[in-house]
Amino acid sequence: MAPLFHLLFPILLPLFPTLTTAWTDLSDETLARLPNPSDTDFDITTGALLSPILIPRVPGTEGSLKVLNHFQNFFATKLPYWKTSTQNSTATTPTSNGAEIPFVNFYATRDPPWAGEGNVGRLVLVAHYDSKSTPEGFIGATDSAVPCAVLMHAAQAVDEALTRKWENMRVKGLAGDGLGDGDGHEDAYRGVMILFLDGEEAFHSWTNEDSLYGARSLANTWESTPHTALSQRKNHLSSIDLFLLLDLLGSKSPTIPSYFPTTHWAYTHMATLESRLRQLNHFLSHKTSPNPWFFEPATKEEKHSMMIQDDHIPFLARGVEVLHVIPAPFPRVWHVMEDDGEHLDMPTVKDWARLTAAFLAGWLGLEGFVEASLPVANGGAEEAEDVTSGAVRGRGLRLKTEL
Ligand SMILES: *[C@@H]1O[C@H](CO)[C@@H](O)[C@H](O)[C@H]1NC(C)=O
Ligand SMILES: [Zn+2]
Repeated sequence: MAPLFHLLFPILLPLFPTLTTAWTDLSDETLARLPNPSDTDFDITTGALLSPILIPRVPGTEGSLKVLNHFQNFFATKLPYWKTSTQNSTATTPTSNGAEIPFVNFYATRDPPWAGEGNVGRLVLVAHYDSKSTPEGFIGATDSAVPCAVLMHAAQAVDEALTRKWENMRVKGLAGDGLGDGDGHEDAYRGVMILFLDGEEAFHSWTNEDSLYGARSLANTWESTPHTALSQRKNHLSSIDLFLLLDLLGSKSPTIPSYFPTTHWAYTHMATLESRLRQLNHFLSHKTSPNPWFFEPATKEEKHSMMIQDDHIPFLARGVEVLHVIPAPFPRVWHVMEDDGEHLDMPTVKDWARLTAAFLAGWLGLEGFVEASLPVANGGAEEAEDVTSGAVRGRGLRLKTEL
């Protein structure tokens, strides 16, 4: 009886974890320990993460391939535990004269080592990497080179803590049985994906057919790619617990409305993290733009009628939960030549990187696993301001380890 019960238990009782409330609060100490987004990564001409993306990258062109190689190279050299893949499609466009244009979506995934693929629920952090074909030479710094670099930073910022957390769970026997019921530890089946979509922009003018080329193909493919029998998640699309889409970020003083009532809880976590990071003096932009970016009170559940067409649409249409981080109104530089590196507000760019990393850490339950990093000696003026907290991080907190 007992062994039989044990055998049937995970199969007969689908103990779905609470899919939409993955969250652990982070202490002030942990927020302070998250790495400083630095000029080494974000300088517009030399920054390791951002500068390679600040080139025209129209689908099917050499610039597009260069940026893809940049992503591939970044994960291969800096984040080897992440599994990278591409999903390809082709389509004719209103300007291609019948020629098939290739679209390449890139994604990198990190899942708990014990979890079968069909049992993982992921936070999927999304930005589009293509740039608009007109005006000629358009860079699209906010649209969406900065969001791409911000997501690379976030992945890097949490990577070691995630290794520590999962090793800790394994040692303590909290890793579950691989079947995905979590044994009461649903974060044993929580993973993360960085997704860079191609072909978001229209080639001629925005229609349902001339836009979102990569996103439409990917949502369709993932919906029709089933997991193995008895998986908790029926297909690749249902592995997405939250589709967090960043777009048009990097200009000063954005305001981000809450677009979807069902993900207002996640919006609220963003808002809380933003205000805490400001209060704790981890934000660089507060002197120039003191108003909160996430400004809606926690109780607000009112529907926004604003429906912005963006990469989330094909996923939303299939029932995926979406948090859309896009300013309304759009930045002043939207779709004009001035949307380039020189017109970015660098304190704001770095603050987005820090905030996104903090959100990811909260989602993944990394409280207690973020270790102090050594202060980065890159001579940036903004980093120099932070010497005091850097020293505290460098000495006192380093002594404490969680394992
Ligand atoms: C998709 O296209 C890219 C660029 O041509 C190529 O490197 C990659 O191998 C392709 N991926 C698949 C899954 O075929
Ligand atoms: Zn655009």
